[in-house]
Amino acid sequence: MNILHIDSSALGQNSASRELTAALVAGLRQQYPDASVAYRDLDREPLPHLSARTLAAADDATVAENAAVLQQFLDADTVVVGVPVYNFTIPTALKAWIDRIAVAGKTFRYTENGPEGLAGDKRVLLAVTRGGMRGADRFEEDYLRFVFSFFGIEVVESIRAEGLNLSPEHRQTAMGAALKQIAELGDVEQREAA
Ligand SMILES: Cc1cc2nc3c(=O)[nH]c(=O)nc-3n(C[C@H](O)[C@H](O)[C@H](O)COP(=O)(O)O)c2cc1C
Repeated sequence: MNILHIDSSALGQNSASRELTAALVAGLRQQYPDASVAYRDLDREPLPHLSARTLAAADDATVAENAAVLQQFLDADTVVVGVPVYNFTIPTALKAWIDRIAVAGKTFRYTENGPEGLAGDKRVLLAVTRGGMRGADRFEEDYLRFVFSFFGIEVVESIRAEGLNLSPEHRQTAMGAALKQIAELGDVEQREAA
């Protein structure tokens, strides 16, 4: 079992999504003690935005980095993604990662019958955190679900903690509920495996 753990919050130690992804990965480690975990912090070590310099005119180091980011994703069985909502969508740091893994011939291909996902054999766990309440503005999750489904991935699960900036009480309740949901996720899987 290969786990890929992705964080993208710009809020460091105060990040809610980091707390949730850490709990998700801890639960997976407990369940699969032999699992390997690759960690990528897109805030601390950001990937450059897509541009001519990172694409057609990329130097050898950039080409190698792009290939490594893609391979790390392809090698993963379970991908845990921290999804803080900034200005109604995902952080640009996370978008830069998506731009590295959306590669024709690797994660999808176009056929006469339309696009076909090539990276379907994975499970994706999203830890979505937002300051307000989710209304019609759930672009971040809809976008990510679309992208992963485009890659052929059918198992995309979301843990959400919302209303985090409404009040300290809201934050405590929402985070408590999300952490409980994560704990139950592990319990259910362990019961199913037994
Ligand atoms: C730059 C910035 C933009 C934000 N934009 C939104 C927003 O559009 N909608 C919302 O509900 N919360 C917004 N928030 C609040 C964050 O979603 C909230 O702080 C959440 O905890 C982010 O996850 P994190 O703690 O892991 O970074 C924003 C926060 C920041 C710092």
